[in-house]
Amino acid sequence: MNIGILSSGLMGGKLGTILARAGHEITFSYARKQSKLEKLAKEAGHNARAGTPREATKDAKVIFLAAHWSRVNDVLRQAGNLSGKIIITCTMPMSNDDSRLVIGNTSSGAEKLAKKVSKAHVISAFNTVPSEVLFDIFEAKPKLLERATALFQGVVWVDKQYLEVVKTYGKWVNDLGPVHPPEFPFVNFETYRENVDGKYWFPNYTRSDDFVRLKDESIPVRLVIKWTEIKPLQASPAPANPSPPALPGATATPKP
Ligand SMILES: NC(=O)c1ccc[n+]([C@@H]2O[C@H](COP(=O)([O-])OP(=O)(O)OC[C@H]3O[C@@H](n4cnc5c(N)ncnc54)[C@H](OP(=O)(O)O)[C@@H]3O)[C@@H](O)[C@H]2O)c1
Repeated sequence: MNIGILSSGLMGGKLGTILARAGHEITFSYARKQSKLEKLAKEAGHNARAGTPREATKDAKVIFLAAHWSRVNDVLRQAGNLSGKIIITCTMPMSNDDSRLVIGNTSSGAEKLAKKVSKAHVISAFNTVPSEVLFDIFEAKPKLLERATALFQGVVWVDKQYLEVVKTYGKWVNDLGPVHPPEFPFVNFETYRENVDGKYWFPNYTRSDDFVRLKDESIPVRLVIKWTEIKPLQASPAPANPSPPALPGATATPKP
């Protein structure tokens, strides 16, 4: 499918790349430098090219709008006629400094956009998906299992820009199989990480769904752990006795 990207930053650049690699025809547009669009297109592969907003939308069936709210009018003006197009937007109606929503409670950015381009079909999606989780996905499997140390086995999402793990999904295993705390059934953990202090990536959200198996029934249960206000600790002397290993699914636990 021919898809035009309006605004090729973190969201537009990454989703456009994923779509190009999945076989769609992608045109990246709207950045401050043409060279950035060309680099994005080159990295996304032979299905991608760089263009102006008008070129990106002219033959596109679907348009992905990923502009800052303050740039939406300018992007739409440059794109021209969008009648009949499907516009998927992840744009959040944020203030110029991204500190607050400028539209909310009684309406939304997507509804406002739908009024601006009344002849297009507007779909709001990906608004709450952090761009960090969009790249790159690897399978991780221990080469050798031992009894004493549980190792991670599962899927790892790495941010291409920062080359850091931003999400994991999987379990902790030793040579006996999956490991979990004896009192809980949770085995597979989905964990998101956030950037702290510009340097470190710490887990800020972990979730696991499983079942408590009773004699006659299985009851679905869910574990959610959230870490907030993560701050680096001041350097302190090394402890006399090293800490025991953390529970599976909670390694690298940041101290609040
Ligand atoms: N980032 C996220 O995790 C995330 C998640 C969900 C929703 N959103 C929403 O998605 C939208 C886009 O976010 P983003 O993080 O992708 O933004 P971004 O990385 O800052 O990308 C914005 C793009 O607009 C271009 N741009 C800005 N001013 C311009 C100008 N005057 N002329 C031409 N191009 C200009 C930038 O060009 P340059 O590249 O040259 O700077 C960049 O390509 C926002 O509404 C945000 O609220 C973001």
